[in-house]
Amino acid sequence: AMNKRIAVLAGDGIGPEVMEQALRVLAAVEQRFGVTFKTDAADVGGAALDNHGTALPRETVDLCRESDAILFGSVGGPKWEHLPPEEQPERGALLPLRKTFGLFANLRPAIVFPQLVHASPLREDLLEGGLDVVVVRELTGGIYFGTPKGREGDKAFDTLVYHRSEIERIARVAFEAARSRNKRVTSIDKANVLTSMVLWREVVTEVARDYPDVELTHMYVDNAAMQLVREPRQFDVILAGNMFGDILSDEAAMLTGSLGMLPSASLAEGSFGLYEPSGGSAPDIAGKGVANPIAQILSAAMMLKYSFGLDQACQAIFDAVAAVLDEGYRTGDIARPGDTLIGTDEMGRRIAEKVSACAG
Ligand code: NAD
Ligand code: IPM
Ligand code: MN
Repeated sequence: AMNKRIAVLAGDGIGPEVMEQALRVLAAVEQRFGVTFKTDAADVGGAALDNHGTALPRETVDLCRESDAILFGSVGGPKWEHLPPEEQPERGALLPLRKTFGLFANLRPAIVFPQLVHASPLREDLLEGGLDVVVVRELTGGIYFGTPKGREGDKAFDTLVYHRSEIERIARVAFEAARSRNKRVTSIDKANVLTSMVLWREVVTEVARDYPDVELTHMYVDNAAMQLVREPRQFDVILAGNMFGDILSDEAAMLTGSLGMLPSASLAEGSFGLYEPSGGSAPDIAGKGVANPIAQILSAAMMLKYSFGLDQACQAIFDAVAAVLDEGYRTGDIARPGDTLIGTDEMGRRIAEKVSACAG
């Protein structure tokens, strides 16, 4: 029987609250599918700063190295914002983790569950027939990591740099994804202004020649931001660099009703990956038991599929989420009058129960 080791890095804010629910759902998967997960928790982010004086302790990295996948919550918050920027949880833990493990391909699927069409800020007719878009975001290059980066008194700078090889490999991920979907890739750039984006457009066009069955469109990022709310169904796979992908994925997430619905997978070559909600530590609602755990639970589902090849178990979790939504249960971020308002814990319990219920 399968036995996988998972590094559990819950982090800060709502991280631990929603992680508890994801682990509950994974326990239901073990029982239903006869697999075993060995989960080991480690400190990361602000929690690690408090306990070890660094956002990414060596033991945490070692644990990740010994594991088959990382299940990540979220990091950061007001408590650590007084620290030098490079020591804060985001730049001190999350970015180094992505770089260390070569997690260059970030998949962020924005799926509007038919039950939640009303929760979207868009007019319902724009989402009729549902919406299923995936943002494929380059995660280990671009302006996040380019050098030089620094500050000299009143002058500060970051560098947007991309190498052909970095563009090529993320483009391939996008075209491969499109093949198993609706065969359309929209590549996002700013080639009218940025030289690095001229290369981006050039390389994506070259890669497209290997995928004659996939339709490629180039779109400037400002237009894309507008088109996402004007006519979201024109998109299938959105391919973008690190920063544009960051911004557009939050926008795509909101089309689904809440950032609390958006999972993500950050993949390396091979089967290793880090799985985390696309949203953050949500300090405004942390500790209240009201956060939506679905993004974390679906991130765990993506782990089952992409790192462990457990496609059926992944599907079972998506089905369980849909079933609980069908019954009218909602956390505050996706609720409207008439829905049954529940908290983080009850949402997790109900989803886990659905996963177990279909046993056999
Ligand atoms: P955020 O994503 O934490 O919150 C934005 C809004 O979305 C808030 O109103 C929040 O309540 C809501 N929200 C997010 N997740 C939700 C959920 N599961 N259920 C219900 N509502 C949810 O973004 P922010 O406020 O810009 O950032 C807060 C902190 O999180 C910052 O320190 C930021 O750097 C960090 N952050 C971390 C990650 C990560 O660890 N991957 C990602 C984004 C932001
Ligand atoms: C995300 C977050 C991170 C990013 C931050 C917290 C470093 O916004 O995962 O989308 O910008 O990549
Ligand atoms: Mn982001």
